[in-house]
Amino acid sequence: MHTPLIDPFARPISYLRVSVTDRCDFRCAYCMAENMTFLPKKELLTLEELDRMCSAFIGLGVEKLRITGGEPLVRRDIMRFFDAMTRHLDRGALRELTLTTNGSQLRKYARDLYACGVRRVNVSLDTLDDAKFARITRWGRLAQVLDGIDAAQTAGLRVKINAVALKGFNEDELFHLTDWCAARAMDLTFIEVMPMGDLGGEDRQDQYWPLRDLRARLAERFTLVDLAERTGGPARYVQLAETGQKVGFITPLTHNFCESCNRVRLTCTGELYMCLGQEDMADLRAPLRASAEDGPLVDAIRAAIARKPKGHDFDYTRQGISGQMTRHMSHTGG
Ligand code: GTP
Ligand code: 5AD
Ligand code: SF4
Repeated sequence: MHTPLIDPFARPISYLRVSVTDRCDFRCAYCMAENMTFLPKKELLTLEELDRMCSAFIGLGVEKLRITGGEPLVRRDIMRFFDAMTRHLDRGALRELTLTTNGSQLRKYARDLYACGVRRVNVSLDTLDDAKFARITRWGRLAQVLDGIDAAQTAGLRVKINAVALKGFNEDELFHLTDWCAARAMDLTFIEVMPMGDLGGEDRQDQYWPLRDLRARLAERFTLVDLAERTGGPARYVQLAETGQKVGFITPLTHNFCESCNRVRLTCTGELYMCLGQEDMADLRAPLRASAEDGPLVDAIRAAIARKPKGHDFDYTRQGISGQMTRHMSHTGG
């Protein structure tokens, strides 16, 4: 066993987010531009290379693997990769294998995911209105996602809903979303919109709904009890005393949570981003391909972790939102 990964700020790195494709069958307005140029398939790490990468991180103490995209379930044969990761769960090296998905393919894959040891999925869902759903995803069908969520629950997967808080878009659905999730025993997390990528005309300033305002509105109807418990991600949770439901808040702009950061992100081409909100990255594909032995890869991973910055520069002041990244969210899967 190698010594575990510790960054320059004494934070142990135990959570790897792996984007397996930059493609998605939707184009959420805050995530992708309408006309995205996707990577040629030959640029992608193969499933075998992804396996080697993830196994190297697990050998270095990573215990939680979250598969992301784009939309991870649109990658061809992706179940082969999940299936390969099961061995790390079986031998106790990996504590959690999970994914963040838009839900569109869950009807097809929910049972297979469960069979591979996945127990929980995060599904992105910002609205329960058909027309608004089609508008925010640019052409997605809400019914398909709701059907996918049903299939996931039937297969035994716990579902957490991620909703990006968008001013003038889903403000009026706060209680509907909350009640809808409660009725289905699903946790719900709200996310502040982050300034990632050039979206061609979308204005963040107009979209931004600070979660402290959302929280205050929730408190008008419910008693919010702060919970100390975390899921290993950035969300802080409250329990609604009246219903027992858990609601999470991911607040990169109003409350920085970087001091407890435990994660890094691998893109589908083998770049390692040490922080979602910084441009610095390390190429891990070259050392992976340079040798059939893992030595050079492990050295490159350690060198990258030694550069992990203190945190992102996203901020919200009266002057507006700052910390804009040129990279789209879909590049690193959030
Ligand atoms: P749990 O395991 O359920 O806690 O999931 P998670 O919150 O770690 O992952 P998920 O993929 O559901 O991410 C939800 C949102 O949190 C996305 O919008 C991510 O971009 C955002 N997020 C996750 N990690 C970070 C982070 O380190 N920094 C920032 N700024 N946002 C993050
Ligand atoms: N800001 C905040 N969250 C975003 N997501 C995508 N783009 C953004 C953004 N600009 C969310 C998706 C998904 C998760 C992976 O990231 O809704 O739930
Ligand atoms: Fe696709 Fe998710 Fe981005 Fe929406 S947020 S476009 S579903 S990757």
